[in-house]
Amino acid sequence: MMAAGGGLREKTHPLRQCDGGGGFSPDPTTHARAHIRVAIDGPSGAGKSTVAKRVAAAIGADYIDTGAMYRAVALKIIEQGIDPVAEPGRLADMLAETAVDQSSGRTLLDGRDVTGGIRTPEVTAMASKSSAMGIIREKLVELQRGMGASKSVVMDGRDIGTNVFPDAEHKFFMTASARERARRRFAELSATGARDSYEDVLAAIEKRDYDDSHRELNPLTRAEDAVLIDTDGIGIEEVTEKLLSYIAVAP
Ligand code: DC
Repeated sequence: MMAAGGGLREKTHPLRQCDGGGGFSPDPTTHARAHIRVAIDGPSGAGKSTVAKRVAAAIGADYIDTGAMYRAVALKIIEQGIDPVAEPGRLADMLAETAVDQSSGRTLLDGRDVTGGIRTPEVTAMASKSSAMGIIREKLVELQRGMGASKSVVMDGRDIGTNVFPDAEHKFFMTASARERARRRFAELSATGARDSYEDVLAAIEKRDYDDSHRELNPLTRAEDAVLIDTDGIGIEEVTEKLLSYIAVAP
């Protein structure tokens, strides 16, 4: 008798079939019946969002940037002048009247497109602080679970494989050394004319890594069953292909 679960099965995912050229096309016979959740976690700057967008496009799933959702709430906290730690009542009232959504790569806060406005250093700092708060995490995790309940999603963040979808069909943990991530971020910033030094960028990345992995609630950790993808020295194309090759195998 064959041992159960031995090795990778050479079967395409029920939702997808390989088109023979390294890409994917929906399987028309099963497309309407199944949906999958792909969880991509990892520290900031590992290239998660670029890869997640490409994987989502390749498999016909929605891309959900959960970091953008935490950023949208942070933006509203700043706009309303709330101190999230000292004013829990105001924070709760605000959250009860807050809608955060993602559609076609845009982030909507109460119906307003905030895609551009959530990338400022001020919002980054507030998102890092406020995303540690239970009341905010509960609200956003519930929304994220709802998004994956009825459609295929590729979701990137810090706690998708460990907390949002512990039973996700596919889990990846993307990382790269802090120096490599700082180098990439520094190149991006320099291209926009920013004057930050490489050392400043590295220090900021190391601080966020520390904060994200040491907070009490849903810290950044690799789920035991997540595939580790180290992107040091590997291009986006290659990383995307690697993920797609795992997804082509049924869970
Ligand atoms: O990925 P990002 O830099 O846009 O995320 C913004 C902040 O939100 C960051 O401090 C980490 C936090 N975050 C989180 O706590 N859980 C997630 N699933 C995604 C992001």
